[in-house]
Amino acid sequence: MKSKHLLSITDVSPEEIADLIKSGLYFKESPFGSDLIGKSAALIFEKPSLRTKVSFDVAVNQLGGHSIYLSKDEIGLGTREPISDVARVLSRLVDIIILRTFSQDNLRDLSEYSSVPVINALSDQEHPCQALADLLTIYEKFSGFKNVKIAYIGDGNNVAVSLALAAATVGVDFVIASPPGYSISRNVAEEINKRSLQSNASFSITSDPLEAISGANVVYTDVWISMGQEQESNDRLKKFSGFQVNESLLSNTDSSTIFMHPLPAHNEQEISKGLLEHPKSVVFDQAENRLHIQKAILANIIH
Ligand code: NVA
Repeated sequence: MKSKHLLSITDVSPEEIADLIKSGLYFKESPFGSDLIGKSAALIFEKPSLRTKVSFDVAVNQLGGHSIYLSKDEIGLGTREPISDVARVLSRLVDIIILRTFSQDNLRDLSEYSSVPVINALSDQEHPCQALADLLTIYEKFSGFKNVKIAYIGDGNNVAVSLALAAATVGVDFVIASPPGYSISRNVAEEINKRSLQSNASFSITSDPLEAISGANVVYTDVWISMGQEQESNDRLKKFSGFQVNESLLSNTDSSTIFMHPLPAHNEQEISKGLLEHPKSVVFDQAENRLHIQKAILANIIH
């Protein structure tokens, strides 16, 4: 990768995404590597995590490296110690910093003072590792990206932003259906539009899930209440109630259409009960692909 850090999905070019997917597919076949022998990675998590934490930990170890998990309370990023100091100390001790944080600004500040690569393991604005794993999954399921359309139903959150930007970068059509006021922000939409024009893909915003899924190869959803938005729960549950992905919505799609969700999922909120077991669901393949693509990211970013 040309960029030293992976803070946003926009840090990777279409060619780099193609290389990462190739490398992810390679690691899926041959899980062990030597790229991180003698190297250490700090895993700093300000928010809970299952997939990201475990997949990064296993990825680092299977590439021969050593990982150190640091929770929010242990570090006190910006409270116990300024981010600039944390960055400069960790840069002397480890070879990669992986950060899950409440604020994209923390990633920016950390990367500014870090002499080692910083990877965004989810922020309030983006989830680039998830988007790359999702592209790997879509690539596998459809043998490429040609004529693929993603319909994202729900909140225009971190997952939606990275996925939409990723889709636009590789030429995949993307439509998002959200309640008014909860779609992707105007600034980000402009960037997606710009990339879509370059890649010859389409991008659109609607508030009608049925309209969105017309002709979709991928139906995608994520939680209505992201980590850090718990105080908005009641309001969001009401506003998103017509945006559930369920059997009835999926029945309007083609037989080859797949259903994706980054997990954790909430039954009777963004999905109906049992949807993870639906024949169209590929959510566990999607979760597994976090491991393979993150090995590709680590191996690439360390060299
Ligand atoms: N949008 C969710 C993604 C969790 C993987 C959140 O930020 O909580």
